[in-house]
Amino acid sequence: MCGIVGYTGKQQATPILLDGLSRLEYRGYDSSGIAVGSGNGIEVVKAKGRLAELYKRTGDRPEGTVGIGHTRWATHGAPDDANAHPHYSQDRTFAVVHNGIIENYLELRAFLSERGFTFLSETDTEIVPMLLEYYYNGNMLETIIKTRNKLKGSYALGILHAGDGGAFYALRKDSPLVIGLGEGENFIASDMPAVLTHTRRFIIPDEKEIAVITPNGVTVYNRNQEEIEKEIFVSDMSAADAEKDGFAHFMLKEIYEQPGAVKKTIHDRITPDGIRLDRVRLNGAEIDKVCIAACGSAYHAGEVGKYFIEKYARLPVETDLASEFRYRDPILSKNCLTVIVSQSGETADSLAALREAKRRGSRVLAIVNVVDSSIAREADDVLYTRAGPEIAVATTKGYTTQLAVLYLLGLQLAKDRGTVSDREYDALLGALKTLPEQLNRFIDDVNAQAQYLAGKYYPASDAYFIGRGCDWSAALEGALKLKEISYIHAEAYAAGELKHGTISLIEKNSLVLGIATQNDLREKTLSNIKEVRSRGAAVIGISDNPASIAAECDDVIALPETHAALTPVFTAAALQLFAYYVAAARGGDIDKPRNLAKSVTVE
Ligand code: G6P
Repeated sequence: MCGIVGYTGKQQATPILLDGLSRLEYRGYDSSGIAVGSGNGIEVVKAKGRLAELYKRTGDRPEGTVGIGHTRWATHGAPDDANAHPHYSQDRTFAVVHNGIIENYLELRAFLSERGFTFLSETDTEIVPMLLEYYYNGNMLETIIKTRNKLKGSYALGILHAGDGGAFYALRKDSPLVIGLGEGENFIASDMPAVLTHTRRFIIPDEKEIAVITPNGVTVYNRNQEEIEKEIFVSDMSAADAEKDGFAHFMLKEIYEQPGAVKKTIHDRITPDGIRLDRVRLNGAEIDKVCIAACGSAYHAGEVGKYFIEKYARLPVETDLASEFRYRDPILSKNCLTVIVSQSGETADSLAALREAKRRGSRVLAIVNVVDSSIAREADDVLYTRAGPEIAVATTKGYTTQLAVLYLLGLQLAKDRGTVSDREYDALLGALKTLPEQLNRFIDDVNAQAQYLAGKYYPASDAYFIGRGCDWSAALEGALKLKEISYIHAEAYAAGELKHGTISLIEKNSLVLGIATQNDLREKTLSNIKEVRSRGAAVIGISDNPASIAAECDDVIALPETHAALTPVFTAAALQLFAYYVAAARGGDIDKPRNLAKSVTVE
C-alpha cells in the first residue's frame, strides 16, 4: 500500500526521499512522487509506474533540504501522473502525501468546489491540501487541527507548507507512520526500514497527534493541542536486514531465513519448566472458545492453528477472514479469546476485527511481527513472531513464524486445560525444539528439487492444491504463494470436496499438488489423488511418507520425519520454493507482484 517518507535537515532532500521510497517499494505501488521545499516555494515531481520513471524525471532537482515523498497504490482514480502524490493546494503553498482513505472526500470536495477550489485529480487525498489552504490563518497547528476535524476515514499524512523554513508536519489515524530521529535531521516514514540507514531511533505518534518536524527537533501535540513527551523507541533492526545479501530476490533470502526466524521465535519461550509466553495473561481453563481473525497468509496460518488448538486443547476454534469477521455480527464473550494474526500489524481489516472483538468484550491476543505496530499496541496481549523485516510481498518467514507461535499457544492452552498427556506434550515440545535445525536441512535439500519441478511444470495454466485436515490449510497457503507471484491460476481444495464440482476442471496435464502427511487421512487423500490422475492430471505428491504415495504421483517431495502436527511448516517451505522457481521461470516481478501490496492499510 502507499508508502510515505519525509526529510528535513542540512542535506539535499531529493536523493534521501528517493532512497527512502526505494525501500518502501515492497509495500506495492503504481506511481510515485516527491515535493521539495526551498526559498522558491514547493516543487512537486511525480510519475506513473516504477520509481525508475521518477528518477528519470528528477535528476538532481528539485533542490531544497525539506521534502516529502510517496509511493501510491491506486484506490481512488487510475494510477497516472495526475493522481500520483504529492498533491498541491490550489495556490501551491501546500503539498500533501497520504496513505489511507478519506471516506467523506466527496462531501468535502463539494464543500470546497462551492468555495472556488478546482481539483486536478480523482483522488480522495487532494481535498487535504485544499482544506489546509482554505483554513490557513498563519498558525499551522490550528490549520491542521481544523482540517483534521473535517476528515473521516484513515490517514497518515505528510504536509509541506511553503515559507515554513525547514519544518514539515505529520499526523496519522488508522494508518502507519513513524518519525525517525537523527542528528540535525529528522524523518518520517510509513515503516522503519525506509529510514534505517539514517537512524534507529523512532517516535511513534498516536492517533490524531500532530508532529511538527524540524532539523533540530520534533514536537508532538496531543488532541488538545498540548505539547507532549513521547517515548523514544530504539529499533534492533539493522539496515542490512533490509538488503538482499547476495540472493536474487528478497523472497528467496527470506525463505532461507526461516529456520533462524523460527528459532528466534521459539527458543526462549520453551524453557525447562515448559512454555513461557512472554507476559501474556492467559488461563486456558477459563477460555471457552477461540476466534482467529486475519487476512491472506496470516489467515491460512490461523487455519493450521485451528486444527492444532482443537486437537490438543479441545477448544472450539472459529477462523475468520478479518474482512468478514467484523461484519458478521460474531458471538463473543469475555471467555472467548480472539486471536488476531498479522505480520505487519497494520492490516486495516485485521485492526478493525481487533476493535470489534474488544467492543464485544472478548480478550484479544495479537500474533504480530512488527513491534509496536497498531495491532500490537491495541491488543490486550501480544506475542511477537520475531521474523525480522519481511520485504518480499509474498510472505514466507512471516507465515512460518506465525505457525510456530500458534503451536506454542495451542500447547499452552492444552496444558492449562489438562487436555494433553505429558507424553504428547513432551513429544510436541521436543519436535518444536528441533524444528529450526530440521527446517534448515530441509530447505537446503529440497531447493534443487523445487528448481527441477519448476522447470518441468512452469508452463501450467492452472494448479490445484489438495489435502485434508491441516494439509488442506497448508494447501491454501501453497496455492496462494503460487498464484500471487507466478500469476498461474491456483486453487486449494479440501481433497474430499474436489469431486463436488471442481474435478470437472481436471483434464490431461492439469497440475495437481496432493499433500498427504497425516496418517489417519493418508489413504483418503490418496484416493482423491487417484481420482485426478485417472483423469489425466500430472500430480506432485508431498508427504513425510513418500513411499506410500509414490506409485500414484508423477513426482514426490519427501518431507522429513517430524511430529505430524508440524508438517505444515515443511510443506510451506517446499511450496514457497516451488512457487519461487516457477515465478522465476515465467519471468515475473517476484518481490513486487503486480497489483499486490505488502501491507494492506485500506479496507
Ligand atoms: C497482504 C500481503 C500478504 C499478507 C496479508 C495480511 O495481502 O501481501 O502476504 O498475508 O496482506 O497481512 P498481515 O500483515 O496482516 O499479515
